[in-house]
Amino acid sequence: MKELAPSILAADFSRLGEEVKTIEDAGADLIHVDVMDGHYVPNISYGPTVMKSLLGKTKLPFDVHLMIEDADKYIPEFVTENTKYITVHQEACKHLHRTIQLIKSHGVSAGVSLNPSTSLNTLEEILPYLDLVLIMSVNPGFGGQSYIETSTDKISRLNKIREEKGYSFKIEVDGGIGLNNLNEIISAGADIIVAGSSVFGAEDIPERVRAFKKEME
Ligand code: DX5
Ligand code: ZN
Repeated sequence: MKELAPSILAADFSRLGEEVKTIEDAGADLIHVDVMDGHYVPNISYGPTVMKSLLGKTKLPFDVHLMIEDADKYIPEFVTENTKYITVHQEACKHLHRTIQLIKSHGVSAGVSLNPSTSLNTLEEILPYLDLVLIMSVNPGFGGQSYIETSTDKISRLNKIREEKGYSFKIEVDGGIGLNNLNEIISAGADIIVAGSSVFGAEDIPERVRAFKKEME
């Protein structure tokens, strides 16, 4: 089953609880939580307090995307009863295998994200340990950017590696995804689609969530 993970980075924070309820009722599968520290990426978003304010308000699992340095130090703060995935950046971790083990030790599924300029080859040794690979299709740091076209081929190549080696990690794609390019991304092998501005920026948010889900069937 293909899953939709709307990114609350593009939500109206003054009414975050309602926004999340809206996407949940419309059929979203996960809540994508973009955490930015102003060091690893040139922007600051929000931290665990904002994420935890949603506990008890939604049944949707949290899909935590850490765009931060020193991830090991902060990972425990993102472990909650709703936390399904914690994903770190290959480029931001000194000891990636250790970080993956740390995430798993909390009973949470572990993911690694790659920037557009980072080769799939850099994951060769860690792939057997992963539950998720997050392909960034924009440079991390901001919502509302344009999809980098070469990402589609990267997804296809990762999907091929997964098939050849018999791995079971999910492929997630993040950045610049809309109804215009959703089909090519799904066809290339993506399992989880992150969408920020194209969901929360829509005039009719529930209708947009349903349109995404329909296209993903
Ligand atoms: C970018 C974030 C994305 C972002 C996606 O650093 O990781 O999750 O919110 O936003 P859109 O869908 O607007 O490109
Ligand atoms: Zn993200």
